[in-house]
Amino acid sequence: MPTPSIPRCELHAWRAVEAHAREMRHVHLRDIFRSDPARGQRMTQETCGLYLDYSKNNVTGESLSRLRDLAEACDLRTSIQDMLNGRKINVTENRAVLHTALRNRSNRPIIVDGRDVMPEINAVLEQMASFSRQVRDGTWKGFTGRPIRNIVNIGIGGSDLGPMMACEALKAYSDRRLTVRFVSNVDATQFVEQTRDLDPAETLFIVASKTFTTQETMTNARSARAWMLDALKDPASVARHFVAVSTNTAEVVGFGIDPANMFGFWDWVGGRYSLCSAIGLPLMIAIGPESFVQMLEGCHAMDQHFATAPFELNLPVTLGLIGVWYNNFFDAQSQAILPYDQYLSRFAAYFQQGDMESNGKSVDRAGRPVRWQTGPVLWGEPGTNGQHAFYQLLHQGTKLIPCDFIGFCRSHNPLDSHHDILMANFFAQTEALAFGKTAQAVAAEGTDQALLPFLVFEGNRPTNTLLADELTPYTLGALIALYEHKIFTQGIIWDIYSFDQWGVQLGKVLAGRVLQELQAPSSPALQHDSSTNALIARYRARR
Ligand code: F6P
Repeated sequence: MPTPSIPRCELHAWRAVEAHAREMRHVHLRDIFRSDPARGQRMTQETCGLYLDYSKNNVTGESLSRLRDLAEACDLRTSIQDMLNGRKINVTENRAVLHTALRNRSNRPIIVDGRDVMPEINAVLEQMASFSRQVRDGTWKGFTGRPIRNIVNIGIGGSDLGPMMACEALKAYSDRRLTVRFVSNVDATQFVEQTRDLDPAETLFIVASKTFTTQETMTNARSARAWMLDALKDPASVARHFVAVSTNTAEVVGFGIDPANMFGFWDWVGGRYSLCSAIGLPLMIAIGPESFVQMLEGCHAMDQHFATAPFELNLPVTLGLIGVWYNNFFDAQSQAILPYDQYLSRFAAYFQQGDMESNGKSVDRAGRPVRWQTGPVLWGEPGTNGQHAFYQLLHQGTKLIPCDFIGFCRSHNPLDSHHDILMANFFAQTEALAFGKTAQAVAAEGTDQALLPFLVFEGNRPTNTLLADELTPYTLGALIALYEHKIFTQGIIWDIYSFDQWGVQLGKVLAGRVLQELQAPSSPALQHDSSTNALIARYRARR
């Protein structure tokens, strides 16, 4: 562990932000805009096809400057370079953190343990491209000689959410003759429902697991193999219908998958940061290698921007610091991502893992309990659906929920006036959240006095707006890298390790013990707490 640094909350720069935030808490966005009417044009940044308007935040130039001072005091600049250059910044797992190498389109050497990782990355990308082309053009045949029509990805967490999100996001670019599905939950319902209308002779399973030991994935993979063998009756069929994506060759071989059908990646790719590795195989099959590379280009452009742009023009740093502002100095507990694009329907779910598994930590990098808030609850749904579900609370609830709105100038489906209607809602929501509706404005409409308090919108609810021209593979890549680096920025400010996930272990270990108790032939002596004992006994008696 590194030598303990000064706790973040004792830094002079932290206290300076804190003092300034105390003043800003009483300032309404209406007043901020009144005194600074040009901020809507000025408080914007544009890069990699993304235009960010952060003017509807309770910040002034001074707030941002103090936040940037905090970033400097936390050594964010050095930390970014450490990550990009392959230093082992994932200290508790003794690993480098190099998802950026996966999309290093400049191909500059990146050295880990004395070896350049780029040749291996390029080789796997080539292997993926060659396989994807064979599946897409029908030269990869199933065991009975028929081409593959259905791809089923079996994986969970980072081995599921990324490719699932991106396959949905880039559906407009996909080969519609192929069906791509995802099975993640150990609940058999998902496997059964996702495969019930598929012909095994035309189905390819991608078993995706970094460790190849994850209980859910291996259980689903075994059921998939049984499903296939039940139909095709020959163990030799597995070689034509199963491929693996993993870092663990021994386990892949042990499962019965030919290592020739394995796509590798490396321990320096975190599960939740693995979409650009072979974990993206279902996406590459769906959209083709060229579009996949476009996505990598978008990620790379944002990586370069993060690495080189001064903090005042740096999109991930700006978003990260604004998030810290509300999380640590305005007591916001959560953060919403609200894409106004149906293709991005899984974007918030993807970054729920990205953000919460990375920054849901409560000890600092020296192992001391933190005395400040770390990662927020991250959530969201696409607009306009959310407006008819949870926006009531955003507008009139008692909680402060900073929101990121993501929208596009052009739709892939320009049907009648749908897109203008969608975007009218998009713009209207951030306006309503910021400026609300005063009691005077309500009264001026001749409203019944008794109803007046219910019709007032306090406003002063902060939002960021991200507006891009069109949802392309490149734009998606830029968006993904933007949020990844935002998470990184915040992890550094909070002085936590963002790339391990020890918090998921305890539940896994306890589940193993409970499973033995559920499967014991006669009632086992249960030694949990009284609640867990009674629940297990009831389940055993009634299942
Ligand atoms: O349980 C959490 C986790 O380890 C995630 O970090 C990871 O994305 C997921 O499980 C799946 O792991 P694997 O790819 O090894 O199956």
